[in-house]
Amino acid sequence: MTNPLPLAVLVSGSGTNLQAIIDAIENGRVPAEVRAVVCNRPHALALQRARRHNLPVEVVDHKAFASRESFDERVVALLRDRGVELVCLAGFDRLLSPAFIRGFRDRILNIHPALLPAFPGLHAQRQALDYGVRIAGCTVHLVDEQTDHGPIVIQAAVPVYSDDTLEALTERILAEEHRIYPEAICLFAEGRIRLDGRRVRILNEEPLADRALVNPALG
Ligand code: GRF
Repeated sequence: MTNPLPLAVLVSGSGTNLQAIIDAIENGRVPAEVRAVVCNRPHALALQRARRHNLPVEVVDHKAFASRESFDERVVALLRDRGVELVCLAGFDRLLSPAFIRGFRDRILNIHPALLPAFPGLHAQRQALDYGVRIAGCTVHLVDEQTDHGPIVIQAAVPVYSDDTLEALTERILAEEHRIYPEAICLFAEGRIRLDGRRVRILNEEPLADRALVNPALG
């Protein structure tokens, strides 16, 4: 048994990805330990989830800081203090400063509700729907200095239907987020991730059925 990976989850909102991570750790599926849940919004639902599981919660309200840098310094100090080795952004609505990213180089994960590099930025599901793609999805990636840009660890694809609504598509993507984020953390915790430029190599990767996802289905 390897020692559990000490991690922090940074949140701002409803925290359903945080919940998926907590559940996966509690079920023994991910060898990790949540050393801190950091939230920049004092009334976020994510805080209730963390407290319900008796996790160490830190509310760091960005409005109390004069600059992004000073806010980030506080968060980084807190993470260092807790011995955090992996930072998981889970609906965290602040951009990280270069100093933060340097401090945890290749040890910050983010989840984005689109198949990057398509539809980075805000309202990714809306962007996908408006563009008219037939296949959408989500991405877990390492964080670098550009938004929604770093090396990709896992992606999951879902169909977009002709009569889809934003709500239905968002939910379909979110269900996959909850599967792949804990899985990506598990790969990291097991030391199975190697970086080769932009490409992430997964050690002992399971072979996939070599079959395309086609939507609409071929007649
Ligand atoms: C998710 O859609 C995630 O991909 C995006 O923000 C949303 C967070 O949702 N980065 P939740 O707070 O985990 O429910």
